[in-house]
Amino acid sequence: MQQQTAPFSSKDVPRLETRDLCRSFEGRRVVENVSLKVMPGQVTCLLGPSGCGKSTTLRMIAGVEMQDGGEILVDGQVICDTIFRIPPERRRIGLMFQDFALFPHLSVAANVAFGLKGLKVDPRRRVGELLEKVGLSDKIDAYPHELSGGEQQRVALARALAPRPRIMLMDEPFSGLDNRLRDGIRDETLEILKAEDTAVLLVTHEPEEAMRMADEIALMRGGRIVQQGAPYNIYKSPVDKAAVAFFSDINIIRARVQGAIAPTPFGPFFCPGHADGDHVEIVIRPQHVRVDFDRGGRGPNPTIEHGTAARGVVTRARFMGSESLVEFAMDHDGGIFRVTVPNIFLPQPGQPLWLTIPRDRCFIFNA
Ligand SMILES: Nc1ncnc2c1ncn2[C@@H]1O[C@H](COP(=O)(O)OP(=O)(O)OP(=O)(O)O)[C@@H](O)[C@H]1O
Ligand SMILES: [Mg+2]
Repeated sequence: MQQQTAPFSSKDVPRLETRDLCRSFEGRRVVENVSLKVMPGQVTCLLGPSGCGKSTTLRMIAGVEMQDGGEILVDGQVICDTIFRIPPERRRIGLMFQDFALFPHLSVAANVAFGLKGLKVDPRRRVGELLEKVGLSDKIDAYPHELSGGEQQRVALARALAPRPRIMLMDEPFSGLDNRLRDGIRDETLEILKAEDTAVLLVTHEPEEAMRMADEIALMRGGRIVQQGAPYNIYKSPVDKAAVAFFSDINIIRARVQGAIAPTPFGPFFCPGHADGDHVEIVIRPQHVRVDFDRGGRGPNPTIEHGTAARGVVTRARFMGSESLVEFAMDHDGGIFRVTVPNIFLPQPGQPLWLTIPRDRCFIFNA
């Protein structure tokens, strides 16, 4: 028997890799040098605002859109560069898009079997196996209009999985479902894809969905990947202000560096690596600001970890379910600060309170 020699164990080779993918429309670059790797059994989320080039990237990988530059590799083999191109139907890449459109005139079984055309498999067996996996064995003879939205979604998943794709590209596949249904289907889908060792590239513009599903997040903006890493790292070490803002509301304190220190109404911030005269923005998420009561016109004593307290007056307080959102007008500049506090905390508008900024929770960027 002939054996292929591989330089690495297959565990080290990405199932899917793109190198410097580029695409322009009418002279405008919408995807610029996108390089990504997805390992077997892993989920990478392409996360970014509307129009940043997520779907275009996916369409190039699927082969329905041609790139202007760059290459796409599967298991270390080039499947598409600007000269050589394996057609979409031979890429063994599964697609699941928001408008997953089942064939209305075909039964559930026939819809799932559709993905098996031309393959040497026993369709009845594979269809049965897949419908069992997605929990729809009892709907095998039903037609799409007889199914709920979530059930249709699961049929679409079974159809996409039928030919055992090595890679699954998903473009906002859960956005048509209501919230409660979505969480369940999202988790089930992931379980099935992981069990099949599929590499998944999932597009979403919802940070919560990305955090929930991704092993890796690739943050995309203006056609480029601005940061890539584990969800925790992207959240904890964002590259810039926009990367912080993508995951939550933010508060900004502006200051000017003098001798590696930025003086602010919240006390000094240590700014190593910033030159004298640099304008910086100190960014903090609402859930990380600390609130203290007023003690006869004074706040808590300054500390190294939290700096100095700055006074604000409550303008609005709302209960959000698991936390309360309190807005302040700050004494020093009248600016608004947003703070979330766990559970119920609803101070009256007009009440003065003191805010401190934990130094290990804020991010400092050049303005
Ligand atoms: N065929 C096309 N012709 C011209 N412009 C296009 C074409 N396809 C996409 N674009 C443009 O490229 C940019 C990126 O589009 P793309 O669909 O990749 O965005 P997206 O990140 O998927 O956005 P969304 O989250 O809204 O789906 C947009 O400005 C879009 O208008
Ligand atoms: Mg899109």
